[in-house]
Amino acid sequence: MKNIIVTGGGGFLGSRVIARLLEAKDLGTQVVDFDSIISLDLGPCPVQDPRVTSVRGSIGDPEILHELVTAETVGIFHLAAVLSGGSEEDFDLAMSVNMDGTRALLEAARASGAVPRFVFTSSLAVFGGTMPDVVPENLATQPESTYGVVKSIGELLVNEYSRKGFVDARICRLPTISVRPGAPNSAASSFASGIIREPLNGQPSVVPVPLDTPMWLSSPNTAVANLVHAFEVEGTALGGWRVLNVPGLTVTVQQMLESLTRVGGQQARDLVSIELDERINAIVGSWPGAFDVSRPLALGFTADNNFDEVVAQYRDEFITR
Ligand SMILES: NC(=O)c1ccc[n+]([C@@H]2O[C@H](COP(=O)([O-])OP(=O)(O)OC[C@H]3O[C@@H](n4cnc5c(N)ncnc54)[C@H](O)[C@@H]3O)[C@@H](O)[C@H]2O)c1
Repeated sequence: MKNIIVTGGGGFLGSRVIARLLEAKDLGTQVVDFDSIISLDLGPCPVQDPRVTSVRGSIGDPEILHELVTAETVGIFHLAAVLSGGSEEDFDLAMSVNMDGTRALLEAARASGAVPRFVFTSSLAVFGGTMPDVVPENLATQPESTYGVVKSIGELLVNEYSRKGFVDARICRLPTISVRPGAPNSAASSFASGIIREPLNGQPSVVPVPLDTPMWLSSPNTAVANLVHAFEVEGTALGGWRVLNVPGLTVTVQQMLESLTRVGGQQARDLVSIELDERINAIVGSWPGAFDVSRPLALGFTADNNFDEVVAQYRDEFITR
């Protein structure tokens, strides 16, 4: 019984990755075959399917990890994490979950002897300092937040366990996801969804950064497709350094609001106000707004066409009125 483990399988991206893997299995288009999926998360996995087991527990618990990762584990999607805002507020939690938890999971994979494909979700928060307008593939990381630091350490750890042959790594630096449905979360970039989602739902929203702030964005559907593609691509095609800047769209906050007006109308735009928040601006303002993604695109990763389509995707899927 081949299994795939998804840490953070109760979360936003994790549950969608699980749904997409099952969809491919149903269509017979999966590249890596599996029989079952295990979600490991503090919370329940929302995907209801007999092939999915929802395990409630922490990635900080080595006992659970060693029990779950076995010689039959063909893949691990490691998505469980404390997000950017939460990491800045609770340093110890960020270190223990995002750093110690990642190492513990890698150790469990190593002990299993399975050499599973290991997809790790990193973030553009690993960058900071002085950056060129378009970030090249080999720019050194210089994080300016606890979240960025633990993600950067995670990248190195996962890459090294892969170099040693303990796992087969695919490290994805995801763009900021927008438009994320549901309630705001603890990510400093939560506004990147809120300023579209709330007005489309008739609610007010606040922009906490300057309007000319460039954002590197991906729709949820494209991000999930890229994570599954990262899992499916041949490891040899990725080379020795397994870190990828996942394709995204560059749009300023001003352009995001223009898309909101075009898709949702002036009444939606009128619900957005501007109120600078220095804490959020310090974190988000240190992130790059554009990347050279020629290699990932050549490897078959994809980006959204434009932000109007991303806003329309959210409207069509989630606005019923
Ligand atoms: N959404 C984005 O914009 C974005 C951008 C870049 C990277 N990422 C990364 O993608 C991954 C998934 O993000 P998301 O948006 O789905 O976030 P999310 O908060 O919806 O999901 C994270 C999940 O991790 C779980 N979790 C937290 N601590 C845990 C622990 N100790 N043990 C087990 N589970 C734990 C949470 O319960 C949650 O369900 C994260 O690693 C995040 O850092 C997200």
